[in-house]
Amino acid sequence: RRILADELPDAQVIVVSNREPYIHNLKDGEIELIVPASGLVSALEPITRACGGTWIAYGGGSADRLTVDANDRVQVPPDNPSYVLRRVWLNQKEHDGYYLGFANEGLWPLCHIVFTRPVFRASDWETYEAVNRKFADIVVREARNQRPIVLVQDYHFALLPRMIRARLPEAIIITFWHIPWPNSEVFSICPWREKILDGLLGSSIIGFHTQFHCNNFTQSVDRFLESRIEREDAAISYGGQASLVHAYPISIEWPPALLESLPPVADCRRAVRRKYGLADDVRLCVGVERLDYTKGILDRFHALEDLFERHPEWIGKLTFLQIAAPSRGTLPAYRRLHEECVRCVEDLNRRFGHDGYKPVLMVAEHHSQRRVYEIYRAADLCMVTSLHDGMNLVAKEFVAARDDEQGVLLLSTFAGASKELLEALIVNPYDAAMMADALQQALTMPADEQQSRMRRMREIVRDNNVYRWAGSMLLDAARLRKRSDTERVTT
Ligand code: G6P
Repeated sequence: RRILADELPDAQVIVVSNREPYIHNLKDGEIELIVPASGLVSALEPITRACGGTWIAYGGGSADRLTVDANDRVQVPPDNPSYVLRRVWLNQKEHDGYYLGFANEGLWPLCHIVFTRPVFRASDWETYEAVNRKFADIVVREARNQRPIVLVQDYHFALLPRMIRARLPEAIIITFWHIPWPNSEVFSICPWREKILDGLLGSSIIGFHTQFHCNNFTQSVDRFLESRIEREDAAISYGGQASLVHAYPISIEWPPALLESLPPVADCRRAVRRKYGLADDVRLCVGVERLDYTKGILDRFHALEDLFERHPEWIGKLTFLQIAAPSRGTLPAYRRLHEECVRCVEDLNRRFGHDGYKPVLMVAEHHSQRRVYEIYRAADLCMVTSLHDGMNLVAKEFVAARDDEQGVLLLSTFAGASKELLEALIVNPYDAAMMADALQQALTMPADEQQSRMRRMREIVRDNNVYRWAGSMLLDAARLRKRSDTERVTT
């Protein structure tokens, strides 16, 4: 907020994302409010709350239309309104082609390199383009003047920056790509690769979580567009305009607001153990994510199987709790994953369970953030085993939840977070034996070692929190604006 006031006075902040920060649903005749499971939402919500402005997003909740005013706006958060949520309505065809189709069957697997074949349909692409145009119209309508700061979020809106630039040439457009960017060879299989790059280069700044993804992006531009890459300035000049390409590792708010109202760790342990029927001497290992094939959930189950086979002393003494928020459930790849997970859990419980003891529990339901933090606090260890992930905020949330400085984090080397949280046990999720060894190490780790690792990771997340993430982007944006204002005066 201070950076905005000092460096970009009077600039209106407009956030654009597909997923909205608050969903209103109808449940048993009542309106229920949900904060969706989305790393993007966890990161952007505290920032927008602090900066104010307008957040434009798809209104997907069954009661979303009932809670907006005549201009499709609602003030949020409901208990302490600080910004405007402007909902955009999509019909079935738009939702299926743009969101399920091109974004989630095309770009999502393409960028994650998880051996799930991307599907590219010309009709999905057309709808993706049309929906991007629809959001561009709304951004222009919501802009109070020619110079807003537009924060475009994620792979749903690759074409939006160029469309906004054409109509608001003086806007600062900061696009943040929350997922990985593949190397140029992988990217080249997308039939509309040039259009996607051209669309993104309408941005003033393009942000990724890691330098590696910035390099992949720059390499893709170099290969497919006539452009000038200025490596020293991390800038790309294309079509008479420059875009800064920079790594901004995303994070979470520090300290997390809801931590204040949570009971002490010992109470959380008791409550969670009671809820899931765990005996006192059973260790609790947790995994928390959307039920998504990029998260390495099955690989985690394979590691547990390996652990129980090689270290049978843990049978009866360890339970793995998988919280899996339902996600994109109408897509075949997601349905298959769900079925396979259920089969795997049943199999593990048949082989290693006894007398009411279950080694694995999977709860495929939405959990509020409060419940999730309670579970983090109750756990002895947390597994984040993504096959590929831009950042992964679960890893950072687990660390933030542990103000008792206990608990061990197993973290995939293919998640951006592993470049920061070096004191986690870093694992390769494709190597079940290695993960089982790491589980063994975690389960036998002395309390003082847990404490020194956790303390260091907490310092990192505290120092590199989400306000810093947004602050560095806004400072870069202010620098760009000053430079272009100076150029305008001198020419
Ligand atoms: C990832 C994406 C986000 C998305 C989230 C949840 O974190 O980067 O853009 O919101 O997954 O997925 P969903 O499709 O439910 O919004």
